[in-house]
Amino acid sequence: MNSLIVFESQYGNTERVARAIASGLGESGPVGLVAVDDAPDTLPDDVDLLVIGGPTHAFSLSRPETRASAANDGAPGTGRGVREWLHGLPTPLPVPRVVTFSTRQGHSFVSGSAAKSAAKALRAHDTVARDVEDFFVITKAGPLEDGELERAQEWGRRLGR
Ligand SMILES: Cc1cc2nc3c(=O)[nH]c(=O)nc-3n(C[C@H](O)[C@H](O)[C@H](O)COP(=O)(O)O)c2cc1C
Repeated sequence: MNSLIVFESQYGNTERVARAIASGLGESGPVGLVAVDDAPDTLPDDVDLLVIGGPTHAFSLSRPETRASAANDGAPGTGRGVREWLHGLPTPLPVPRVVTFSTRQGHSFVSGSAAKSAAKALRAHDTVARDVEDFFVITKAGPLEDGELERAQEWGRRLGR
């Protein structure tokens, strides 16, 4: 199985999760890992599984203003977000299986989830996210909660099965 992971990360935590997912998925075949700034606007036609992840900002996918706010707080950040990248993709996405993940700070459902928002954005592209998962950070800048990288690796393994 050929997988592609596209991630956005302002402070580095979502990237760490993406790398852990890649290591789990890698047991089932080749995995490409790419930051959203460098993600292709035309998806390669040999991708069996597309994994999309980003940080939860203001209950949803990041926006230019929320990324600016993170940058003001010292986050190295990215130029564009998953929201903008998704917007430019075709309808439906030319990939058999798409899943989404996010990182977030709050455990309550009112904290929102970029993974759920990405799944909603995919529906506008007539594409259904087959799996939607959240991973948790302790503060905005991280670190991740204990055990989250192991859980991400196991999620990647499961996606590959
Ligand atoms: C501007 C901003 C808004 C945020 N809003 C939320 C939120 O609504 N809910 C939440 O659970 N976490 C929120 N967070 C925490 C982020 O989810 C956290 O910074 C992110 O998971 C870290 O991932 P990263 O290191 O990949 O950027 C916010 C963070 C920032 C910078």
